[in-house]
Amino acid sequence: MLCSQVMLGSVFRCLRTSPVAGKRSMSQSSLAGKVAIVTASTDGIGLATAQALGKRGAHVVVSSRRQANVDKAVALLQGQSIQVTGTTCNVGIGADREKLVQMTLDQCGGIDILVSNAAVNPFFGNIMDSTEDVWDKILSVNVKSAFLMTKLVVPHMTKRGGGNVVFVSSVAGYQPMQALGPYSVSKTALLGLTRALAPELAHSNIRVNCVAPGIIKTRFSSALWHNEDIIDEFKKMLSIKRLGEPEEIGGVIAFLCSEEASYITGETITVTGGINCRL
Ligand SMILES: NC(=O)c1ccc[n+]([C@@H]2O[C@H](COP(=O)([O-])OP(=O)(O)OC[C@H]3O[C@@H](n4cnc5c(N)ncnc54)[C@H](OP(=O)(O)O)[C@@H]3O)[C@@H](O)[C@H]2O)c1
Repeated sequence: MLCSQVMLGSVFRCLRTSPVAGKRSMSQSSLAGKVAIVTASTDGIGLATAQALGKRGAHVVVSSRRQANVDKAVALLQGQSIQVTGTTCNVGIGADREKLVQMTLDQCGGIDILVSNAAVNPFFGNIMDSTEDVWDKILSVNVKSAFLMTKLVVPHMTKRGGGNVVFVSSVAGYQPMQALGPYSVSKTALLGLTRALAPELAHSNIRVNCVAPGIIKTRFSSALWHNEDIIDEFKKMLSIKRLGEPEEIGGVIAFLCSEEASYITGETITVTGGINCRL
């Protein structure tokens, strides 16, 4: 008994005096001084992620295809005292990706965080009816551009001594959704991309992680949540009997980009209200 008290005492003393423990207790979740690119960030999960990163002190760079949406998002974030820069960027277009990265470097001086959030789904139906065009579009925007954005930012993160990449996958990446076959496959690919990149980029002190949201109330998923029958079906799979909110994904992404997650890489966090996710 006495022996274990003595041991506990020395553990607590060590924690109090350890420089690592001391450093961690300061402000683990602060992102002050960091520059974060979030793609497809003028609405839904991307916008909520920009908000979450910005509220923790990061300068966020928001973008999407339409200037009017960019202007609206910039105004909203500025109104919340978030440091923000905006530009148009269709992530499926190489010149747009390069413009986004160059503008960030010019205006913010570096890049520490990339959240690759953009995705499209131009096809609903039986997977056997999907065409080559559908596959080209989905894989190009949802997977290839996620990698190519990463490739563009990594040299700049390396110059800053490290960074964070987070991909936005989906519960559909674990369990393909009916009528969303090609989209689901593209989201499974992001789980693989996360695991493939993490060991390679760890040498540059860059962590690579992924989030897989469940059904989150956004415009993208409105076809699902506007239909009561579909919602009832989903609720059977949920432990938490409601749909998710974009902020519930943004917070997890901000956590992954923070020092609190300093020992996490190559992982996908499912944020689904309890849907069983396994490959
Ligand atoms: N909502 C869900 O239930 C759910 C579940 C799992 C995963 N996800 C994933 O979460 C991510 C975000 O979805 P969301 O639900 O937040 O969608 P959302 O609310 O509809 O927002 C989509 C955003 O993407 C932009 N965008 C669309 N295509 C783009 C492109 N090619 N290049 C750049 N920006 C583009 C849109 O703005 P513009 O129109 O101006 O381009 C908008 O800002 C996607 O990767 C999606 O697969 C969503």
